[in-house]
Amino acid sequence: MAITGSAKLAGVIGWPVSHSLSPRLHGYWLKHYEIDGAYVPFAVQPEDLHQTLRALPKMGFKGVNVTVPHKENALSAMDHVSETARRLGAINTIIIDEDGFLWGDNTDGVGFIESLRNNVFDLNFSDCKPVVLGAGGAARAIVASLQDAGVPEIQLVNRTLERSQALARDLQGNITVLPWGEMLGAVQNANVLINTTSLGMTGHEPLNIDFTNLPNSILVTDVVYNPLMTPILTQALDNGNAIVDGLDMLLYQAKPGFAAWFGIEPKVTRKLRDFVLEGFEA
Ligand code: ATR
Repeated sequence: MAITGSAKLAGVIGWPVSHSLSPRLHGYWLKHYEIDGAYVPFAVQPEDLHQTLRALPKMGFKGVNVTVPHKENALSAMDHVSETARRLGAINTIIIDEDGFLWGDNTDGVGFIESLRNNVFDLNFSDCKPVVLGAGGAARAIVASLQDAGVPEIQLVNRTLERSQALARDLQGNITVLPWGEMLGAVQNANVLINTTSLGMTGHEPLNIDFTNLPNSILVTDVVYNPLMTPILTQALDNGNAIVDGLDMLLYQAKPGFAAWFGIEPKVTRKLRDFVLEGFEA
């Protein structure tokens, strides 16, 4: 529908931002729910981030998403930060309240947990024995969300050991750090394998795991969604393992922002998935 002068405004701030699928995703929901609103991309350079964020309430924005490379730096421009975002040191969703205050949150982890819940109906997080590969921002959000979901122990495997050790120190508790070379051994005792590294992404080298040596009871998930079927997901599927691809995490992490800005709890559907997929296959 055409927007009016009272349209609700939101968007995504990144640098660059042209790769972002969020405008397509939120645009689908706006149309589907016939909302008088707009969600637009903003290419904002790092040095302009703070000023841009502080100007949003003055322009009547309901909020924004922030993406690479702003997730950490946006934190200091907030008036309030959720406990999750503070723990992760990064935000991806900003909600602006009626008094113009900026509330920063991080919904990446919730997006991951929701994508698992909605794809694996019998998943019980208290029986979950995950191996997480990687120690970047995505790994942080996922490890914290697994902790919050009640997972008893998490094995963390990263190429750079100091980085996984720092993650374990920051998030504390039930995290066992293992060197990259022990990945296969770690997976033998696990029931969920989660790739948060960029390996397998278009333009990056694949993640090499010999799935023929792995129990096919392990659920294999990948945060990479471009391509949707990464080499490890294809191999896992061939080996008879259940898989969850990275697209649903992207879709589910968007829900809380949309609900807060536009006043409707949106649904993740097959049609939405197909529509967003067309956006990066085009
Ligand atoms: P994000 O914030 O999206 O998680 P990131 O912070 O750049 O991105 O993290 C990328 C992850 O992919 C890291 O865990 C990185 O490992 P290092 O900490 O050792 O850099 C991992 N990664 C990238 N290329 C890799 C490679 N060739 N082999 C193994 N791990 C790799």
